Order: sequence, then C-alpha cells, then structure tokens
Amino acid sequence: MSKKLLIGTGVAFSLLFSSFSQAFAEEPTTGERKQVDNVAHRGAAGYAPENTIAGFDLAVDMKADYIEIDVQRSKDGELVVIHDTTVDRTTDGTGKVGNLTLQQLQQLDAGSWKEESFAGETIPAFEEILDRYHGKVGILIELKAPELYPGIEEQVAEALKERNLDQPQNEKIIIQSFNFQSMKKTDQLLPKVPVGVLTSNRTHTTAEALKEFSTYAEWFNPSYGIVTEEVVDQVHAQGMQIGSWTVRSQEAADFLFDMNVDAIITDYPDYVDPRN
Ligand code: G3P
Ligand code: CA
Repeated sequence: MSKKLLIGTGVAFSLLFSSFSQAFAEEPTTGERKQVDNVAHRGAAGYAPENTIAGFDLAVDMKADYIEIDVQRSKDGELVVIHDTTVDRTTDGTGKVGNLTLQQLQQLDAGSWKEESFAGETIPAFEEILDRYHGKVGILIELKAPELYPGIEEQVAEALKERNLDQPQNEKIIIQSFNFQSMKKTDQLLPKVPVGVLTSNRTHTTAEALKEFSTYAEWFNPSYGIVTEEVVDQVHAQGMQIGSWTVRSQEAADFLFDMNVDAIITDYPDYVDPRN
C-alpha cells in the first residue's frame, strides 16, 4: 500500500475514531495534557554539547521520545552529525564541514566549547548514530543544507534501507529539512518514512502552502513564533502533524502544549516531560 493510501486510510480511521471520541469521551479536564512527542533538540543541547554522543545519551536517560540530529557530509563522502556548515562554533577546529575528511572531523574536540567536563566528545558519524540509537529512541533526522551535498538524500536512504529502517512501524524515524525540494525527493526515495518541512516563514502557513506540503510531507515543523491555534488546526486538517521548535523555557513549552501541537522540539527535555 502506498504511503499516501496509508495516510488516507489513517485519516479515515482517525475521523471515525474522533466521532466516537466526541460521542463517548469527556473533554480533557484542566491540567490534563495530550500525549506530545518530546524531541531532544541536537540531543539535550541545553545540558550537553549539541550533536554528540554525550548529548544523545543524556536525552535517552531523560526519556525523550526522539533525538534530533543534523546531517551533513565530509570531504571524503561520509555522513556526519553536526549543525553548522563550519566546525568553528562547536569544535576546536576551523573550516567547512565539506572541506574536511571524516578523519580530520573526528580528531576535533566537539565538547570543550560547552564545558570542560565534555572534553573529548567527537563529531559522530551518521551511521554510528543509527546503530547506537535505533530501537532505543526515535530519530528525527534533519538534512542540513542538503543543497551543499548533492545526492545526500540517496546516501541517507541507503543507510536506512541497509538497516531496514525504511519500513513503517519498525522504528521511529522522521526526516526533515528547510529545503523542500530535498524533502520531495526524500519522499520519493523513502515512501514509507515520514517527511517533515521546517520553516520560520509565516507565508508557509497559508492554507494553500500547507496543502502543497501535504502532497509529500507528514509533518509541518515551524518555529514556535509562527504557531497559532489556527495554524495547528489547518495542519491537522491537511492530515499532517505539527512539531515546533526550539523550546528553551518552560513558558515556551507550555505555550506549545496549549496550542495542541504533536511534538515539541526542545533543548531541555525536562520542560516537556509530563512527570515534571
Ligand atoms: O528540529 C528543528 C530545528 O532543529 C531546526 O533548526 O537550526 O536548530 O537546525 P536548527
Ligand atoms: Ca536541526
């Protein structure tokens, strides 16, 4: 069954279910919260150096539902996990990610800039992250600046297929990007893997824009500054889910709970954990 058909079936079931819910269920009382996915942004980036094993392990310990990772490519063609397109801010080196080999990248210290106790953390390889965390925690994979790395979509797809992570229900894997063409391509390469579009641009929240995104994306993931109840309703009306970023305060988390989003992408997973 195609992904679109699966989604259509899902929407039909959810409509059926929601009418039963409306008929038989009480509205949640004040203080109750719906289940929201807790996504640890770049690992638990508020507490540990972003995009490192220390940060991702901490996110797992903090019971996040997903870790969010940024994927780029080294000079010698290896997929690596780092946010900026240069190593300058988050390591003790300098230069563009794409101008350094995997070996050169992995010799850098990616922890000390955050705190001396994290000295020795390194830039992880993408496949290392898949192998270490799949089955343990969901992985929200962002293709960062994919226009700099032609063919990165195929490489990511291959790595997922090798591990059978391209199949629905196997593991929690989502791929997202600010580059919409890249996500269209990813949707074609990996029809069973949910795809997300990232934006902080209000013009992408119109009904027309959301309808276009829904032709290939399952997630609409905006910065929280452009989230309103109306946007959330329209995203849901198009059969997509909404995950919003980047939460760095309890107030921001509470705002997104109130907006009824489906996922909160946060540097501080404890702000989203309902047990706190
Ligand atoms: O997951 C959303 C978020 O990661 C997008 O922004 O710049 O942190 O990659 P950025
Ligand atoms: Ca990211």
